[in-house]
Amino acid sequence: MNILLIGSGGREHALAWKLKQSPLCNKLFIAPGNAGTALCGTNLPIGISDFEPLAAACKEHAIEMILVGPEEPLVNGIYDYFKNNPGLEKIKLIGPSKEAAQLEGSKAFAKSFMKKHGIPTAAYAEFSADNYMEGVNYIKAHALPIVLKADGLAAGKGVLICQNHLEAMSEFELMLHRAKFGEAGKKVVIEDFLKGIELSMFVLTDGEHYILLPEAKDYKRIGAGDTGLNTGGMGAVSPLPFVNNDFLEKVRKEIIEPTIAGLKKDKLDYKGFIFLGLMNDNGEPKVIEYNCRLGDPETEVVIPRIKNDLVEILMATSEKRLNEVKLEIDGRSAATVVAVSGGYPGDYQKGKEINGLEDTSIDDTMIFLAGTKNDGKKIVTNGGRVLAVTSFGANITEAAEQSNYMMEQLFFEDMYFRPDIGYEFKTVEQ
Ligand code: AMP
Ligand code: GLY
Repeated sequence: MNILLIGSGGREHALAWKLKQSPLCNKLFIAPGNAGTALCGTNLPIGISDFEPLAAACKEHAIEMILVGPEEPLVNGIYDYFKNNPGLEKIKLIGPSKEAAQLEGSKAFAKSFMKKHGIPTAAYAEFSADNYMEGVNYIKAHALPIVLKADGLAAGKGVLICQNHLEAMSEFELMLHRAKFGEAGKKVVIEDFLKGIELSMFVLTDGEHYILLPEAKDYKRIGAGDTGLNTGGMGAVSPLPFVNNDFLEKVRKEIIEPTIAGLKKDKLDYKGFIFLGLMNDNGEPKVIEYNCRLGDPETEVVIPRIKNDLVEILMATSEKRLNEVKLEIDGRSAATVVAVSGGYPGDYQKGKEINGLEDTSIDDTMIFLAGTKNDGKKIVTNGGRVLAVTSFGANITEAAEQSNYMMEQLFFEDMYFRPDIGYEFKTVEQ
C-alpha cells in the first residue's frame, strides 16, 4: 500500500526508515519531511496541519494509510477531518480523534480524565482568570516546590517548577493576566511536585487492545550532567535497567488498562500511540503527562529495537486486531545522541553544510536526520535539532560510546552534542 507519513523530525526519519523496510509498503510519501526522509521516500512540500492539500495529495497518490508523527495535526483534528470526508474515510489514519488528542492538547482535560478513572498522578487544581484569587490562595498554602502548567500546547515551555511562593504567584499572574503563553495559558493547572526518576513508555492501542513498546529515557537539558535549559531532547536510551517486571505490571494494571478502559467509557476514539511520561517514585509509577504520539528522540531508540513489520502492526491497529500481534524486541541496548545547532534552544543559524554523512557505515549504527534539507547536492542544517545517531550495544554504555564515536566523524559549523547520554547507567568494564 501507499503510505503518507506526516512530520519532519528525527522521529519521522526513524519511522520512514522502518516503514520502508516493510514488504507491505509500496510508495512512501512524507509531508513535509527532511533530507533523511527523502532517502526513504518522496517528500511533499505540505504543512503538517494543511488538511486540504494533504487530502488532495492522498487522492493523487492513492494513499491507504496515514501515520501522524507530531501532536499538532492530531490536536487540530486531522483524524476527524479524514473520517468525516467522503472518499477519505477509508484511509487508515493512525492517531486519536480531536477530542481524544485533548489528553495532550489540554492538561486540565488530562488531569480530569486521570482523576475520573483513578489513574495515579500528582494532586492538582485548575484555575482561570475567573477564580484568580482562589489560585493565589491555593499557591500560598501549597508545599514547595510547586508545579504550574499552562493548559494548552506551549511548545514544551508551558511547565514551570517553582521553588518559592513569590515566584509561583508572579508566574501565575503572568499566565492569567498577561497572556505569557497566549491562549495556552488561559487556564492553569497547579500540581504537586513528583519526585523520582522520569521515563517514557509507549503504548499502541486500537481502542480495545494494546501493545506495550520498549521504554526509554530522554535527556531534556542542553548541558552535560543534566544542566542548563530544557530542549526537545538531546538523546535517549532504551531499555532502562530499573524497569523490572514488578514495575511493568504496575504500569499495566494501574495506568495503561484504566486509560484504555477510560477512553472507551468516555467514547473517545483512539487508534494510535499513547506516550506516557511517567515518574518512578521508589517503584510506584505516576503519570506526569500523556502525549498522543511517539516521542522524539525516544523513537530513534524504540523503533530500531522493534523487530516486527511496522506496517503490519499499524494495519492491526486500524482493524482492531492488536491482540493478534506479538512484539519481538531486540534484546540489545540502544542509545541515540542528538547533534544540535550552536545556540539551540535559543537562537541559532541555519544553512550550514553537514559533512561526513557519506562514509558512515559502521555496523549497528544509524543516522537519523532531523532539521536538515537538501541544497543541491549538499545536505544543510535547517533546524535546532539537526540529526540523531543511534547505536546498538551490549549495554547502554557501549551503545552510547559508539554513537559518540560516530558523532566525531560528522561535522557542521557550531555543531554541539551532549557526550554523556546514558551517564547514570554507566557500566565499567571488568
Ligand atoms: P511536560 O511539558 O508536561 O512534559 O513537563 C515538562 C517536564 O516538567 C517533565 O518532563 C518533568 O520533568 C517536569 N514535570 C512536569 N510535571 C511535574 C511534576 N508534577 N513533578 C515533577 N516534575 C514535573
Ligand atoms: N522527547 C519528549 C517528547 O517527544 O515530547
